[in-house]
Amino acid sequence: MLREEAAKRIQFLTQEIKQHNHAYYVLSQPSISDFDFDQLLSELITLEKQFPEFANLNSPTQRVGGEITKTFTTVTHKYPMLSLGNTYSEEELIDFDARVRKTIGDEVAYVCELKFDGLAIGLTYKNGKLVQAVTRGDGTRGDDVTTNVRTIKSIPLELKPGTYPEEFEIRGEILMHRKAFEKLNKEREEIGEPAYANPRNFASGTVKMQDSAEVAKRPLDCFLYFVLAEKSPFKSHFESLNNAAAWGFQVSDHYRLCKNIDEVLHFIKYWDTERSNLSYDIDGIVLKVNNYHQQEELGFTAKSPRWAISYKFKAQEAETQLLKISYQVGRTGAITPVANLKPVQLAGTTVKRATLHNANEIERLDLREGDYVFIEKGGEIIPKIKGVNLSRRPTNSTSHHYITNCPECNTPLVRNEGEVVHYCPNESGCKPQLIGKIQHFISRKAMNIDGFGDETVEQLYAANLLHTVADIYQLATKKEAILALDRFAEKSVNNLLEGIEQSKKMPFEKVLFGLGIRFVGETVAKKLAKHFVSIQRIATASIEELVEAEEIGEKIAQSIHLYFAEPSNRLLIEALQQAGLQLESSLQQNIPQSTILAGKTFVISGVFINHSREALKELIEANGGKIVSSIAAKLSYLVAGDNMGPAKLAKATELNIPIIDEEKLVELITN
Ligand code: IVH
Repeated sequence: MLREEAAKRIQFLTQEIKQHNHAYYVLSQPSISDFDFDQLLSELITLEKQFPEFANLNSPTQRVGGEITKTFTTVTHKYPMLSLGNTYSEEELIDFDARVRKTIGDEVAYVCELKFDGLAIGLTYKNGKLVQAVTRGDGTRGDDVTTNVRTIKSIPLELKPGTYPEEFEIRGEILMHRKAFEKLNKEREEIGEPAYANPRNFASGTVKMQDSAEVAKRPLDCFLYFVLAEKSPFKSHFESLNNAAAWGFQVSDHYRLCKNIDEVLHFIKYWDTERSNLSYDIDGIVLKVNNYHQQEELGFTAKSPRWAISYKFKAQEAETQLLKISYQVGRTGAITPVANLKPVQLAGTTVKRATLHNANEIERLDLREGDYVFIEKGGEIIPKIKGVNLSRRPTNSTSHHYITNCPECNTPLVRNEGEVVHYCPNESGCKPQLIGKIQHFISRKAMNIDGFGDETVEQLYAANLLHTVADIYQLATKKEAILALDRFAEKSVNNLLEGIEQSKKMPFEKVLFGLGIRFVGETVAKKLAKHFVSIQRIATASIEELVEAEEIGEKIAQSIHLYFAEPSNRLLIEALQQAGLQLESSLQQNIPQSTILAGKTFVISGVFINHSREALKELIEANGGKIVSSIAAKLSYLVAGDNMGPAKLAKATELNIPIIDEEKLVELITN
């Protein structure tokens, strides 16, 4: 394709994709099928790779992140990020209304909004483009998390045409929807990572991650609720919200203009019950005086505006009896205690069970079977036990003794130093571990074997046809035995065997993830596959060599080392190799485009306008160059962006190293 044509096509695709993104993430009205969307996106990715000079930082392809932030820069807020006064009762709200009317008179309208339970973020736009995203911090200074926030799809990188000020800040709340939270938290627990307590913590943990590509994978969302500008084009808050929505921001549908405090109270009553039907958590309602003049008249206290206040919902609580503490064994052998409760109604559902996390939690609460307990619904669908009603404790009650042996196979449990979780070490003989490992291996994110489900695994295990992952690849020789089982017929067996055969083509990183090595999640598996290329090299790597790979810390390295030290695991790998699975990476073969930079070394430093740092890195590597981390006399080029550290610049100058910008780099490659 000619350059000119490419430029046009890139521009067209960019606009198309942006519109589809807005329809999907902000309006929740998809305007294209997933398949067609992926086609457009992959065409754009290819074109931007071919013509890097036309790729820009606001391209929808940049939503995938890639830049690493070691420490976030602290930024002073242009407008301090204040908090809101809290109230918990109708009386306090009526008092607030009386105070407001005493200052500004009876002609007052309030905007009522949901109080989103996430983390506050301030987004600055200049000429319609997102330039900075800063967390609340201490209200005066926060962290610059722009790179991470750029990956959140409902936040526009460029606004639609509109009457927005040349420069303004818009504030809102970043959050994670409950369903996504439950799912991702479960995945974390499965690979042995500690679970987050609620969606808010998960969201704020994510926003502070160093690798923006990881952030991009976690489904964060953002609702905006406050426009700040030196000269606002609007007269009221209601008007500004309506306009923000038209510029492309996601403003919740649930804000209302209320003419008096009675309407406010009505709004609150409605949402106190209705909130359980939202897909995300709210912890109250915010009410704001609508008119900007009136807001000015009311002013601020040292901590919060006098024109706004929040009403916090009471936690949804119930009391019930703890009948029994039972234990579950996970795929990695981790033991999870579960509270079995006398069924009770809470926030619209019947609650029968609560998670207890680990032995420390039971000890902390001094939970005993037979106790009456207070349960509360926070972020999770499964509620938490908040405490014991000691006044109802049976006189003959005794402390709970945590189990010492596996409830499934009776092996003595172990608890590693510094860890809270107990494990059953009988990896090769404990039924839920064996079944769980196979279920993990065939799951969608791992080998994704068609025609193979969790129940089939259980059935084949029970029929003695399946004990380890390697047995999957022997099933083809046992067709008759499978046919003899319940629910199987010629067609379903053929499907299953075909799915298994196909899975042999799954890329190495999927196989590696599927092995279910503790702490080796999807991302770690990818990094390992990229760094070491083959399973042989991972298996024989020392701890020191393992930690050299990106994102592999001591804890992960130990776990990998331990896994391959186990003879049965080595046998398993051998069997998988025999079966013909991919145990070498093909990742390396994806990108190289030329060898024009062969033998050249590069340091990338600073912030770039047209490319993300990761894109520059890929570009260099794809053309045979090598990225190094420090400046030395042998270095070929320093690729410098804005805000580069002065020490690096001085050193490069002193050593006479050519300093180039991103355009010059692209030139080096294209000419
Ligand atoms: S307005 C000066 N509106 O609550 C007014 N805040 O305690 C600034 N929050 O830090 C805040 N939903 O993180 C506003 N609809 C909403 C909100 C909201 C949640 C959070 C926000 C703020 C805290 C104030």
